[in-house]
Amino acid sequence: MANAAMERREDAAAERSRARRMAWWHEARFGMFVHWGLYAQLGRHEWVMNRERIPVTEYERLSDTWKPKERPMREWARLARDSGMKYLVMTTKHHEGFCLWDTAQTDYNAAKRGPARDLVREYVDACREFGLRIGFYYSLMDWHHPDGARCAKDPKARRRFLDFTQGCVRELMSNYGTIDILWYDVAWPLKTPERWESARMNAMVRRLQPGIIINNRSLLPEDFGTPEERIAAEEGRAWEACMTFNGSWGYFPSAPDSDWHSSRAVIEMLQKVTAGGGNLLLNIGPSPDGSVPRQAYQRLAPVGRWLARHGEAVYGKVDRAYDSLDWLVHGSWTLKGKTAYYWTGRWVGSEIVIGGLQTKVRSVASLDTGREVSFTQTKDRLVMTGLPDRSPDRIAGIAVLKIEFAGPPRQVLGPGCVVI
Ligand code: GLC
Repeated sequence: MANAAMERREDAAAERSRARRMAWWHEARFGMFVHWGLYAQLGRHEWVMNRERIPVTEYERLSDTWKPKERPMREWARLARDSGMKYLVMTTKHHEGFCLWDTAQTDYNAAKRGPARDLVREYVDACREFGLRIGFYYSLMDWHHPDGARCAKDPKARRRFLDFTQGCVRELMSNYGTIDILWYDVAWPLKTPERWESARMNAMVRRLQPGIIINNRSLLPEDFGTPEERIAAEEGRAWEACMTFNGSWGYFPSAPDSDWHSSRAVIEMLQKVTAGGGNLLLNIGPSPDGSVPRQAYQRLAPVGRWLARHGEAVYGKVDRAYDSLDWLVHGSWTLKGKTAYYWTGRWVGSEIVIGGLQTKVRSVASLDTGREVSFTQTKDRLVMTGLPDRSPDRIAGIAVLKIEFAGPPRQVLGPGCVVI
């Protein structure tokens, strides 16, 4: 009995600490994922070593030929900031096993091979310079380490590989000042958190970085879920959808322009994550020298301009719109307490009607024109009038109406036309 009560108290304390640690992250909403490693030189996806069965000794040569230009991370960070992103997550080591920082765990690292610099240090400096929060991606799976596969069967190899893994993580958590996010990936070939010693490893991480946020890919739930290439709200917990820009995480110059998400599609992603109370981590795969592909620039610049005008519908503490508001034919919602934002990507004309609202509307304003909007509310019809004939959003054709309610809004439509 006493134990159960103690556990409940510990759980409640852990929840409070989590809420404190994650407040900034929930409000930030939008981050940049960066996949950069030796694979950029081949330009055929970050899984190229595995998918083309490139022998380790042949692939290793890429570590000597890699010569990034000077401090490309400043370009990423500037682009992230100008696009309305608030944090970055960079691959410190991807599945290929090449460490981008100056590590004592292996010579297969950026300081000792081709780049001859600590690329993680440069990344951290760039994030700080541009006022962005800092995330480290770390792949548990390792195709280069001699024990990376055999650790599954050989206990001695497993011990060595865990020591290597924990050594890498310890360095990353010790040598670069405050780190905001630890983003693990692919827990192959060990199948359980016990085999990975994840609880112990993450306890070490939290001792070194008490404010850090950890994702769920060390096979423990930790702080947030990571739906990949889909935007799906997770119930009862924090989540972040990670999305490629063009179908590949790593640099892939032969992807046709049409494979890249449009600015409008990125803004629609932001609507979906915000409506579900989640975050969006949108990826870029820089070229071998570290340049951001032009397609990313072209698409992100308008997103930044769009967010400069409509940001209040995205950033900050939100409520899940799905829980109280329904779907409509010309747009969708995001929600903050008594304020709902109606994002309309299909502007139907000078009069826009929303059915089913059960809560009294106090005011309507257009985030695009900055003006009040006239409206009448009769029974469950909200009729907004005197609007422009064409969408007032010239950036992506997604305009936002801000609707203030007398209380938390509720909308009831349902399939029938008569409310019974
Ligand atoms: C997958 C892929 C990996 C990528 C990651 C990002 O797990 O294996 O290449 O880094 O998704 O979420």
